[in-house]
Amino acid sequence: MSIPENNSDFVPVASEIAREAGALLMGYFRQRVKVEYKGEVDLVTVADRQSEALILERIRARWPNHDVIGEEGARVESGSDYRWYVDPLDGTTNFAHAFPVFCVSLALEHKGQRIAGVIYDPTRDELFAAEQGSGAYLNGEKIRVSTIANLAECLVATGFPSHKRHQNPNIFFYHQITLRTHGVRRAGSAALDLCCVACGRFDAFWEFNLNPWDTAAGVLIVEEAGGRVSDFKGGPFRIDSRETLASNGLVHQALLAEFDAIFKGRGMEELPSPVEYVKSRGK
Ligand code: IPD
Ligand code: CA
Ligand code: CA
Repeated sequence: MSIPENNSDFVPVASEIAREAGALLMGYFRQRVKVEYKGEVDLVTVADRQSEALILERIRARWPNHDVIGEEGARVESGSDYRWYVDPLDGTTNFAHAFPVFCVSLALEHKGQRIAGVIYDPTRDELFAAEQGSGAYLNGEKIRVSTIANLAECLVATGFPSHKRHQNPNIFFYHQITLRTHGVRRAGSAALDLCCVACGRFDAFWEFNLNPWDTAAGVLIVEEAGGRVSDFKGGPFRIDSRETLASNGLVHQALLAEFDAIFKGRGMEELPSPVEYVKSRGK
């Protein structure tokens, strides 16, 4: 593996950029900005676009030869060994409804390997950061995944993609895993969900159909905090993977076994029927 040049400033500079973008988001958040639609239920706001423009400008100024892929359309594709994945506002639906769970996510790949990741939550002033091989940090303090080894004692998280929201079977996973753990949270920012696994607030997180800008930084942060990230069969997580399962490592196998059973339709707890519920209410 070739050593990336001048890598010592990636995390500090990306942190500054993420903080600046986060401050911009907070300005719009306080004003309750107008929502536009990219798809039927896929929201976008002026804040997403302004944040991406700022981040792109800052990356280009500092690293003019790096490639950039941003969710809102930023594309610099020159064949550079370095590529940034930018989610200028992860949690747009929350943001648009004044629910304070959203963040900025920046990740850097070198020759396809994730080498730096920064996620900034401006509502709590929490900056999560990791550099490959150097651990993961929250506001400068080292973080570790949780030590819970029993799935029944876990608090886990998932998400439902805003577009194509009915194109995956996650509601079945939500139901089964809820019954086998302390609970499943669905907070609406995949990048922050991954950070919560990294610092032990959640013991695991899974989601179908995430995009590289949702996962790239958070996956590195989880791994550097001692956790494990894979697809739903236990295979290595890849940036173009449509399956993300992150955990503290200790409950990974148990979750993979649950997923395997759910995919095979085995041992499923039946979803209570609303029709039967109404009938019994009438008695
Ligand atoms: C979304 C959030 C959400 C997840 C969706 C993502 P966006 O990103 O991460 O938690 O469930 O799949 O698309 O659109 O707010 O950047
Ligand atoms: Ca996102
Ligand atoms: Ca986004």
